[in-house]
Amino acid sequence: MAQQEDVFKKIVSHSKEYGFVFPSSEIYDGLGAVYDYGQMGVELKNNIKKYWWDSMTLLHENVVGIDSAIFMHPTIWKASGHVDAFNDPLIDNKDSKKRYRADVLIEEYLAKIDDKIDKEVEKAAKRFGETFDEKMYRETNPRVLENQQKRDEVHTRFAKALNDNNLEDLRQIIIDTEIVCPISGTRNWTEVRQFNLMFATEMGSTADGALKVYLRPETAQGIFVNFLNVQKTGRMKVPFGIAQIGKAFRNEIVARQFIFRMREFEQMEMQFFVTPGEELEWFAKWKAARMKWHQALGFGAEKYRFHDHDKLAHYANAATDIEFEMPFGFKEVEGIHSRTDFDLSQHEKFSGKKMQYFDPELNKSYTPFVIETSIGVDRMFLSILAGAYCEETLEGGETRVVLRLPAVLAPVKLAVLPLVKKDGLSEKAREIMDELKFSFACQYDEKDSIGKRYRRQDAIGTPYCVTIDHQTLEDNTVTIRERDSMEQKRVSIPDVEKEISAKTDLKNLLKKLTE
Ligand code: GAP
Repeated sequence: MAQQEDVFKKIVSHSKEYGFVFPSSEIYDGLGAVYDYGQMGVELKNNIKKYWWDSMTLLHENVVGIDSAIFMHPTIWKASGHVDAFNDPLIDNKDSKKRYRADVLIEEYLAKIDDKIDKEVEKAAKRFGETFDEKMYRETNPRVLENQQKRDEVHTRFAKALNDNNLEDLRQIIIDTEIVCPISGTRNWTEVRQFNLMFATEMGSTADGALKVYLRPETAQGIFVNFLNVQKTGRMKVPFGIAQIGKAFRNEIVARQFIFRMREFEQMEMQFFVTPGEELEWFAKWKAARMKWHQALGFGAEKYRFHDHDKLAHYANAATDIEFEMPFGFKEVEGIHSRTDFDLSQHEKFSGKKMQYFDPELNKSYTPFVIETSIGVDRMFLSILAGAYCEETLEGGETRVVLRLPAVLAPVKLAVLPLVKKDGLSEKAREIMDELKFSFACQYDEKDSIGKRYRRQDAIGTPYCVTIDHQTLEDNTVTIRERDSMEQKRVSIPDVEKEISAKTDLKNLLKKLTE
């Protein structure tokens, strides 16, 4: 675990050192849980967004996009339930004066018990070797059973307290399980209180009576309120979806773990409108489709898992998260929810406008049910960095840090490197770059030894380096070096583009999703 935390720290500092992510307002000592994307970060982020957008809008004829405003009429947030219920249960430690989310403290406690059980099983597996029967061991070992029982009891109480919105019970679980503050080490806790996560500001001049507006805490509501605009102008027929990418804002109290939990972040959300009664079938389809989208990146299926929700929101009839194995454990990257007709019905009630769809095939009007897929761009970005970051010792003892980014997402697709600056190699390299720059994000570099230049490209995840040497001037060939294997092959210049686009073209990744 300590080793993994170490890796996480390295990812954070690597991100800064190579221009992926900077703390916001750094020269003023930063602003909590707000980050800026640098010259490499913005490219990676744009590529992630393009992968998502194209997979939604190009691969599904019945999914279209919109871009709604961040400011919306404040009644929208009343209708959606955010004004009354978008709260976190908070608890303070009276000694350290630190504030925590009560639910997170309990979840961490449960995760610790899970860890204990897993370690016990791992130890036994080593001891018994090939004859080990894990299922039997979990069902019979007294220590495992004792921990499992403890976990199940707390878990049942926890799920009930959350479902009943019972803050006293949440506090009592923290007291009974003897959870201590990680800073002060004491159990001197306050009551649990609800804290609304929306940022509010004012629109218009105060003299006229300013309107209190919110910075949207999710992009989804912009889709719901435009549902009929899109349906009518786009002549969409249920089932159909509306996709949106945009900023969202939450006044997160426990804002930790770099870009995992931010106060300003970006979401990629898609609401899929279906005939009532068909929602669970569509939920299963989107669940599978979204997992395929993640796994197509090639980090390995074992890095992902579904986490079905214990606590279903009152309006949802199914919900799951797609989790990725971050250096700090499996964490949610995407949520998939079957939201019934809750949002559209609420907007109909609060706006007084009909939010129904006339189904020509059924010859009747109804409020469609909605399946939502909602993924954070920044969390996806972090999962990719975590999956890609790799320290290697090479033959001869030299080490390198390499970002094994999926080639399609890499900020720079290829580097053009003259072996030396003289003998006309720079000019030839420039000529090649001037041709290739129309097809790929290229970087030209002629400074330092070729070895050092390869290392710089490895560190930003550039999948290919094209090296121009003296032979190039004789036979019009270059070497292409592949980042992960470090293998080099000679290719004639007119073939370089074809060779590299076969590996870096988004089209090929999108095709995989339809197989
Ligand atoms: N419309 C549904 C919705 O917003 P959510 O589970 O609250 O659901 C969806 O958020 C996704 O947005 C999460 O899975 C996560 O990837 C991202 N997200 C949520 N809060 C975030 C935060 N504070 N910082 C970064 N990403 C966040």
